[in-house]
Amino acid sequence: MQDIAAILAKGLDAIAAVSDLKSIEAIRVEYLGKSGHITQLLKTLGSLSPEERPKFGQIINDAKETFTLQLQSRKEALEAASLSQALLAEQIDVTLPGRGMERGKCHPVNKTLARIQEWFLRLGFSIEEGPEIEEDFYNFAALNIPPHHPARAMHDTFYFPDGRLLRTHTSPVQIRAMHGKEPPFRMIACGAVYRYDFDVTHTPMFHQVEGLWVDENIHFGHLKGILENFLQALFERDLTIRFRPSYFPFTEPSAEVDIQCVACAGKGCRICSQTGWLEVLGCGMVHPNVLENCKIDSERYTGFAFGMGVERLTLLRYAINDLRLFFENDLRFLEQF
Ligand code: PHE
Repeated sequence: MQDIAAILAKGLDAIAAVSDLKSIEAIRVEYLGKSGHITQLLKTLGSLSPEERPKFGQIINDAKETFTLQLQSRKEALEAASLSQALLAEQIDVTLPGRGMERGKCHPVNKTLARIQEWFLRLGFSIEEGPEIEEDFYNFAALNIPPHHPARAMHDTFYFPDGRLLRTHTSPVQIRAMHGKEPPFRMIACGAVYRYDFDVTHTPMFHQVEGLWVDENIHFGHLKGILENFLQALFERDLTIRFRPSYFPFTEPSAEVDIQCVACAGKGCRICSQTGWLEVLGCGMVHPNVLENCKIDSERYTGFAFGMGVERLTLLRYAINDLRLFFENDLRFLEQF
């Protein structure tokens, strides 16, 4: 009797002390397994007298039942605890805010480029392309800049050992678009150009947009009208514009176009170097030699061409004061557009 009570008490203590499911299984085996303490007790019944057997059998079975119930309820409690612990550990709070995927923004230079293209496409201009690694013929010779022409010195050209070069302007695309073909031509060409030049207002790579319209009876009035309308649209305001006589080997007559300073309205400031004017592009009537170099009859056809720097126009349009900002990729700057 004392043995039974002692074994049961020890077993119940063990159950109470256990804190994980693996140990509880070990306790079950220790007491109820084939050679467990309680199983052993039941085996001793055989050695008792028939009168004693029912009494002790009853007591051992009661002890076994008490033990089993305790074991079961402890096991269930531990299972419940481990489940709620798992749920807590694996829970996802669907109400938390997301991790902030920033939306990309168009680079200001690309934005200006897109606006320029859109404007000229609406007028029926096509978009032409040419290589950035260019041949002398297209970049210079065909544009009426023969070898040793002084204009070559102004171009600060990057040359390859084989005589090819990084195009210094988008004008070679004019030649590629016209050479051996029949007018009319009405096109723009956009892209990167390269010059050996680096300071506050110059970068070795920048972007230009070239324009060309060649047909019968095209004259300077067309050029003036288109550029005036274009600049008003690009700057989204009434601009005062002037055409200032200039020189390019591939146009005759040539002009540079100035807009009245957008910062000081022509009064004179640091941005316009006190002149009241900002130079925005170069243009002119296509030189007959250029048409002839492209095997086009310069008696029958005339046309105009213009070229502009996209970074410069962007700078002026958005009142940005440092060209280098376009190339530093500082998000604090780029996010403003
Ligand atoms: N190609 C010239 C430049 O880069 C610009 C230009 C283009 C001028 C077409 C006149 C006509 O400076």
